[in-house]
Amino acid sequence: MRRLKNNGLSKERPLIVHGDPKSVGSEAFRTLRTNLRFVSPDQELKTILLTSVGPGDGKSTVSANLAVAFAQSGHKVALVGCDLRKPVLHKIFSMDNSVGLTALLTGNATIDEVIMSMEEVPDLDVIPSGPVPPNPAELLQSKAMANFIGELRERYDVVLFDGAPVIAVTDSAVMANQVDGTVLVIRAHEVPNDVAIHAKNLLEQANARLLGVVLNGVRPQDQKNYQYYYYYDSERAQ
Ligand SMILES: Nc1ncnc2c1ncn2[C@@H]1O[C@H](COP(=O)(O)OP(=O)(O)OP(=O)(O)O)[C@@H](O)[C@H]1O
Ligand SMILES: [Mg+2]
Repeated sequence: MRRLKNNGLSKERPLIVHGDPKSVGSEAFRTLRTNLRFVSPDQELKTILLTSVGPGDGKSTVSANLAVAFAQSGHKVALVGCDLRKPVLHKIFSMDNSVGLTALLTGNATIDEVIMSMEEVPDLDVIPSGPVPPNPAELLQSKAMANFIGELRERYDVVLFDGAPVIAVTDSAVMANQVDGTVLVIRAHEVPNDVAIHAKNLLEQANARLLGVVLNGVRPQDQKNYQYYYYYDSERAQ
C-alpha cells in the first residue's frame, strides 16, 4: 500500500478554516458543517457533491474549507477532485497532480496510490483529480467511479466531491445521482436568479438530492438582508 504525503497547505490559496479558525469565515464553515449533519436525520448523508452554476463561484474553496471543518470535528474525511476539466485541489493542498482520480478510473493506479494523506490535517485525505482526460463525463459515470465511491463510503465518515459547474457541462449532473446529496454554491451578487433556478432545475432533472445553497462572498453589510429573507422564507414554509 502506497500512501503519499503532501508537502503542506498552499500559501497562495490559504484555507481560512485551517489558518484562521477563529474568524467569522471559519465560523460560517462550521455552521455549514453542522447544518449538513442535521439536514437529513433519517437518511444517510455521507457522500456530498459541491457544484455551482458557473465557473469560479467558489466550489473548490468551499469544499476544501468544509472538508477541513469536518476533519477538525473528528470525522474521517475524504475530499475528491472531480472537476476533471479544471484541477485545482492539488494547488490548494500543494500536491502533485500527476497521479489522481483519472489514473484510478483508467486503471493506471490503485486507490491507495491516489489517496494523499494530509500531514497538517490528520483526519483529512485528498484525492486530486489528476491530469485532464479527453472524456470526463464518461469517466465519472463509469463502473470504476461507482466502485470508488463505494470504497470511499466504507473507509470514511464524510466524502466531499469538488465538482464542475452544472450549467456548462454534464459532469456534475452525472455525479449528482451517485451521491447522497448535492450542495449548490452560488456567488452572491454575480449569479442572476433565473440562472440559479435553471441550475437547480438541471440538478433536479438529474435526480440530485439538493441539500441547499451556499451563498459565497456575502458582504458584511448584506448579512441583515439575508437573515431577513431566511426568516421570511421559513415563516412561509410553516
Ligand atoms: N468568498 C470568497 N472571497 C474571496 N475570494 C474568493 C471567495 N471564494 C472564492 N474566492 C476566490 O475566487 C476564485 C475562484 O474560486 P474557486 O476556485 O473556489 O471557484 P470554483 O467554483 O471552484 O472555480 P472553477 O469553476 O474554476 O472550478 C479563487 O481565486 C478563490 O480564491
Ligand atoms: Mg473548482
